[in-house]
Amino acid sequence: MTHPSGSFSFDLVVFGATGDLSLRKLMPALYHRDVAGQLNADVRLFAVARGAMRDEEFRNLARGALNRHLDSADYDEAAVERFIARFRYLSLDADAPEDYAALAQAIDGASDRVVVYYLAMAPRFFGSICGHLAATGLNRPQARVVLEKPIGHDLASARTINAAVAAAFPEERVFRIDHYLGKETVQNLMALRFANALFEPVWHRGVVDHVQVTVAEKIGVEGRAGYYDHAGALRDMVQNHLLQLLCLVAMEAPNAFAADAVRDEKLKVLQALRPINERSIMEKTVRGQYGPGAVDGVAVPAYVDEVEQAASNTETFVVVKAEVDNWRWAGVPFYLRTGKRLPARRSEIVVQFRPVPHLIFDGASRDVVANRLVIRLQPDEGIALHMMTKVPGPGGMRLRQAPLNLSFADTFHGRQPDAYERLLMDVVRGNPMLFMRSDEVEAAWRWIEPILAGWSAGSETPKPYTAGSWGPSSAIGLIERDGRTWHEDMR
Ligand code: BG6
Repeated sequence: MTHPSGSFSFDLVVFGATGDLSLRKLMPALYHRDVAGQLNADVRLFAVARGAMRDEEFRNLARGALNRHLDSADYDEAAVERFIARFRYLSLDADAPEDYAALAQAIDGASDRVVVYYLAMAPRFFGSICGHLAATGLNRPQARVVLEKPIGHDLASARTINAAVAAAFPEERVFRIDHYLGKETVQNLMALRFANALFEPVWHRGVVDHVQVTVAEKIGVEGRAGYYDHAGALRDMVQNHLLQLLCLVAMEAPNAFAADAVRDEKLKVLQALRPINERSIMEKTVRGQYGPGAVDGVAVPAYVDEVEQAASNTETFVVVKAEVDNWRWAGVPFYLRTGKRLPARRSEIVVQFRPVPHLIFDGASRDVVANRLVIRLQPDEGIALHMMTKVPGPGGMRLRQAPLNLSFADTFHGRQPDAYERLLMDVVRGNPMLFMRSDEVEAAWRWIEPILAGWSAGSETPKPYTAGSWGPSSAIGLIERDGRTWHEDMR
């Protein structure tokens, strides 16, 4: 399967190939890997969707998508033509068992060839597609299935999906994508923690005061109103991306950089999350929904107008104060914050250390600020350690906080590959480390569900905020009640 250069032979079947995710994310990612020489000449790409379409029509669609979504510098006409020529289009009704025979015929090949079924579809199809693949004998030993989030919309539906998928594919061949795990800086978090001796001795309640995880977006719902209005920010972002980030910060060192070793440790963190119940929900969560406003000086409509649901109570912003009940983290809150239509696209993890135990600098002591480690996930990927330094010059001891800055763009030149490029090739390699195991998904839902229940039991609705602001004022109130503030760059 593998050539020494790291190139691969495989078949990829994309279900939902004409949909937004496929065109916006998968096509550019595959194209980049093709240009990088990782796709052998015999790689076959099958685009599967319901409508009738000729190969040429799909290729036109793919060309258009690459045109729109690639940086112009990366669009090489000859390479694009070569890439799209790999595609064959198959019309298939995911619920029609007889359609899978045609698929079997098309991908008929050596039984030890890697076949990837990528389900870029709504989760309600996952179980039935896997069932039909199995019934047609398409779940052969080298076949694997990729599931896009969300895996269900609550614990029961996630369990149903996981069970149906498990009946067709063993867990080690099920790849549940959380694309945050494919981001370079997120993997760097493991390098930071476990390839440096420096941080582990201070990575606990004795030295860390609290942790902030923020994923801020400028965009609205981007034409996904139907999905988003049923999901909301808690299901769309916190249940997966933010909890995964929390896990990587909080987990114990795995004994090996191996899929189950890492996932076992993340699971323990999810299991240690203190439940939020109806009594604590007001104190520990804030949800908001954007009204009209402006982002980057451009007027944008209110959420309810964007999704055309005047009475919608779906949250587009959420803050949750999470607590990890174990020896390492007891008493150290993890403030999780995410929202759409905020003033900046910025994702970061802030580890706030405790203040020094005793101040010795008389007059200058008031300037001493506790250390802060800021891991910037996007944009400007990098790590900054904010430290106290002496301001140069004579005339007394003056102190100021300054960052020790590691910028990935400055240190590692060249294009930063998109998360999907890494994740797709990991599926082909058969490495599930950066994918969520079924028990992780279920543990995350187990913690999220009471929050959803608590919200719907109460009479409160999401707090309004102006599009282009940092969310409702109660989001600031929540952290300030604890005597803390949001990392100031985020204001
Ligand atoms: C997706 C969510 O999982 O992540 C979207 O469904 C969100 O609502 C997106 O916009 C954010 O991803 P990124 O990589 O742009 O931070």
